[in-house]
Amino acid sequence: MQSFCGVGNPFKAGPVSEGESLLDVGCGAGIDLIVASHYVGETGRICGIDITPEMLKIAEQNIESMGLGNVEVREGSAESIPYEDDTFDIVISNGVLNLSTRKKMAFLEIFRVLGPGGRLQFADIFLEGERARETPCTLEAWSD
Ligand SMILES: C[S@@+](CC[C@H](N)C(=O)[O-])C[C@H]1O[C@@H](n2cnc3c(N)ncnc32)[C@H](O)[C@@H]1O
Repeated sequence: MQSFCGVGNPFKAGPVSEGESLLDVGCGAGIDLIVASHYVGETGRICGIDITPEMLKIAEQNIESMGLGNVEVREGSAESIPYEDDTFDIVISNGVLNLSTRKKMAFLEIFRVLGPGGRLQFADIFLEGERARETPCTLEAWSD
């Protein structure tokens, strides 16, 4: 939990059921991977990708300490997801897509790896109103 930096609960957006396959884009330390693995059970498959090797190392340690055999992590970005087309039933993401500088590419990649009828459930932060345009290049704009 020390390394958790999600901004919400992607599991609130819909159920994750036994036997399903799920990808967490920007899994960080892997907390949502651990939650997801309990939902899908031993017949399901959980994968996580992140661009930061240090976070993946922590995720691997967390997965190992929980003794989870159905979870794997790989280095990869939202904009270039290292999985085949139609691989997952569900993609989740928590506090990551706002960081992408190529959001359209990220969504295209997510839809590519989702199978027919697949679901994207993500929690994120966004700006409302005109503030982003008024202060686009200040430190304040990043923390507002
Ligand atoms: C705010 S943290 C959220 C981590 C995790 N989802 C959680 O709930 O704790 C953002 C994470 O996204 C990763 N990240 C940032 N940009 C990314 C991208 N374009 N593709 C994949 N991961 C990314 C970072 O390395 C970091 O681990």
